[in-house]
Amino acid sequence: MQKKAGPRSGSTLDDRVVFFQEFLKNPRQIGSITPSSRFLERRIVHIAGVASARLVVELGAGTGGTTRAILDAMGPDAKLLVVEINRHFAALVGRIDDPRLIVHCGSARDLRDVLSRRHLPAPDAVISGIPFSTIDRRTGSQILEAISSALTPGGRFVAYQSRKHVDQLSRPLLGPAHVEVALLNIPPLRLYWWEKRAARPALEEERSRAARPAESLALVSARTENTADASFRRRLKPR
Ligand SMILES: C[S@@+](CC[C@H](N)C(=O)[O-])C[C@H]1O[C@@H](n2cnc3c(N)ncnc32)[C@H](O)[C@@H]1O
Repeated sequence: MQKKAGPRSGSTLDDRVVFFQEFLKNPRQIGSITPSSRFLERRIVHIAGVASARLVVELGAGTGGTTRAILDAMGPDAKLLVVEINRHFAALVGRIDDPRLIVHCGSARDLRDVLSRRHLPAPDAVISGIPFSTIDRRTGSQILEAISSALTPGGRFVAYQSRKHVDQLSRPLLGPAHVEVALLNIPPLRLYWWEKRAARPALEEERSRAARPAESLALVSARTENTADASFRRRLKPR
C-alpha cells in the first residue's frame, strides 16, 4: 500500500470527501460531516499538553488530520496510539509514515486491553473525537470508564464535542470539566478537558491500614476495646 508523506496537519479535499462518504454510511458513529479545522487541531494539541507527553492516545482519528497535528507537536521519543473503529479510517491513518505511530482498529471501549497487549504505559494524554451524543449511552460510559482508569494520575483527557453528553457521563469519574468553545470549526464545538487527580493521601493511608498484618490489627482493636472499657467503667462509677 502507498505510504503517505510524514506528519502534516490539516485535511485535504480528498480527506473531506472520504470523511463525508463514511459519514453517510454511519452518521451516528462518525458524528460530523467534516474533519476538524486546523484551529481546533491546534487547540486540542495545546490543551492536552502533547509536547511534553510520553504516550498520547487518540480515540476516533477519522481521516487523520488530528493525528498529524498530534504527531507534529509530539517529542521525538514519544508514542501515539490511535484507536479507530472504522476500518477505512484506520487503514488511512495507518498510511501515515511515522515510527512513533501505532494504529489499532477497534473500539475505544477496549483501551485498557489494547494498552496492556502492546505493553504500553499509562497515557499522559487521551484525546477523543468520539461523538458521545450519538453513540449509545452504555458504550459511551464504558469508553469513559476505560479512559479514566487508563490515564496516568495528573494526565489529561480532552474531548471535542457538539453536545454536553461527555461532560454528564464523565463527571462521576473525573469531576467537573474545563470547557472552551471553538468557534473556528464547522460546526463550532466545545472542548472539554479534565486532569486526572493524583491518589489522595487519606485514601492511601486507609489502603495501607487495610493491608496491615492481622496481629497489628488485633492490637489496634484490643487497644480500642480497653479504652472503651475504661470509659464505660468511668460512666458506671457511683457519684
Ligand atoms: C467526529 S470524528 C473525529 C475525526 C477526527 N479526529 C477529526 O477531528 O477530524 C469521530 C471518529 O470517532 C470514531 N469512533 C466512533 N466510535 C468509536 C469507538 N467506539 N472507538 C473508536 N473510534 C470510534 C469514528 O469512526 C470517527 O472516525
